[in-house]
Amino acid sequence: MTRQPMALANWKMEMTVAEGLAFLRRFQDRVGELLAHVQVILCPPYTALYPLARAMGDRSIGMGAQTVSAASGGSYTGEVSACLAADAGAGWVLLGHWEVRRHLGETDQSVNLKVHRALEAGLHPILLIGEESGISAGSAGQALGDQLARVLQHCAPAQIRDMAFIYEPEWAIGVDEPAPQEHVSAGCRFIRHWLARHSGPHAAGGARILYGGSVSPAYAQRLLTLPEVDGLGMGRMGRDPDALAETVCLIAQARPPSG
Ligand code: PGA
Repeated sequence: MTRQPMALANWKMEMTVAEGLAFLRRFQDRVGELLAHVQVILCPPYTALYPLARAMGDRSIGMGAQTVSAASGGSYTGEVSACLAADAGAGWVLLGHWEVRRHLGETDQSVNLKVHRALEAGLHPILLIGEESGISAGSAGQALGDQLARVLQHCAPAQIRDMAFIYEPEWAIGVDEPAPQEHVSAGCRFIRHWLARHSGPHAAGGARILYGGSVSPAYAQRLLTLPEVDGLGMGRMGRDPDALAETVCLIAQARPPSG
């Protein structure tokens, strides 16, 4: 089955509106027609979602929120619901990032609630799946399976098919280089097999599985030799329009359109 390859940039708590708009102009200039083949998702802070979505005009680049509230609306000062994120222009939402787990007390259960709020609002969840630091290689599979089972509770195969997953071990975030190749392929393969076993071949065949964690253009080519990887997610390097554009080019070369 052919899946559209994907590149994702998570800007975290960086980038003003002006910086985001400047990024967009430069990035669009650099990638041009590759956007028809590689699906690019930008996840700016909430404050830049709407101006960026407006500036984009067409929908050739997807916009994602970095998280949403587990509540659908109401008196939750400081929170942003999935509906409000969609209203501001998001079509996607990142859920379960290690930084949200560590700093804001996110649990698999709250990720699952957010997955359902996102689906109700018409957003596609992008689930970050990965073992925490300190877990031995031998226990990683168990940890990933437990996480998948909890965050995907009560999701239908047709919903899972349209989601994306980023395999991202906690210890690979914000360091000098990505996780070793064999580790990345084993993690992505585990996710795909788990989805096939629990949600069926249709869901497992459609869902995109990316790798994230210290990705840069210098490492992208090597990561893209792995057939298990449908694309790449970038934090620090995703704020550099040239680096993201170069990565999109590498993805397009490594995953050329079929037929
Ligand atoms: P990094 O961030 O690319 O800067 O390591 C990745 C992430 O947090 O998803």
